[in-house]
Amino acid sequence: MTATHDSPTAAGSGDSATKAFRASRDSASVGPAVSQERVSEVVTHLLAGIHSTIRSKKVTYDEFQAAKQYLIDVGEGGEWPLILDVFVEHVVEDVAAEAQDGTKGSILGPYYLPGQVRLDTPATLPRRADEQGTELLFAGQVRDTAGNPVPGAELDVWQADHEGYYSGFAPHLPDGNLRGVVVADAQGKFEIHTIEPAAYQIPTDGPTGALIEAAGWHPWRPAHLHLMVRAPEHRTITTQLYFRGGEWLDSDVASATKPELILDPVDNGDGTRSVTYDFTLEPA
Ligand code: DHB
Ligand code: FE
Repeated sequence: MTATHDSPTAAGSGDSATKAFRASRDSASVGPAVSQERVSEVVTHLLAGIHSTIRSKKVTYDEFQAAKQYLIDVGEGGEWPLILDVFVEHVVEDVAAEAQDGTKGSILGPYYLPGQVRLDTPATLPRRADEQGTELLFAGQVRDTAGNPVPGAELDVWQADHEGYYSGFAPHLPDGNLRGVVVADAQGKFEIHTIEPAAYQIPTDGPTGALIEAAGWHPWRPAHLHLMVRAPEHRTITTQLYFRGGEWLDSDVASATKPELILDPVDNGDGTRSVTYDFTLEPA
């Protein structure tokens, strides 16, 4: 596909992701203060991991100074939200998942934006008049862990377009494109009309991309839909859904796939595809 626009830059995406993250921190309710014991325990362990890497890999002064330069570059390039969500968030999510029932979670990533348009089911996510990509009807039901329908459920959906770009983080896309909060019906059922996203590539022109290239890794995430599924008195699920047969499913650079989160769309015979996926929410 030929792009008819400039590709978003790592610096641009990183800057927008940093702003979105700051805004989410400003509006977050303040949790309990972190104790001195906790800070000391976690930071001591973290530093011990770095020290042990230096000893066992015999890291040199040159390498240490290169690492210092690299970390400065990540900050100046505004890429902390990108690099942390790609390389670290999946383990935080794994630990959180140990105490969670219901539909499996996955990483939030850097591209969530709150306050999107609310749409009653059946809904079509906002799209450009000439939006490209395979039409997808995504339908299902939200139930609780006892199997009962959950009324009043909301599916906050965000996704990349057919080139792998997210609105709000790519200047050529209209605000709110392929984002929306879909309100399910009284039985927790929903129908969302959208297009299939393309695989996502970590921007290669910044420090995160430079590291990936220097290490000989690849910069791809498999195509995915992002969702937060909410309902009164239930724990919100933050997750992602992938597509059976999609490229990079077995080598996601962000290590955020799970077998339970893979969709099996069927061809409708007219160039469109349909899929159902049901969500299970646990009590809050
Ligand atoms: C990143 C981007 C994503 O779309 C995602 O789902 C996870 C991580 C990133 O660039 O850090
Ligand atoms: Fe994503």
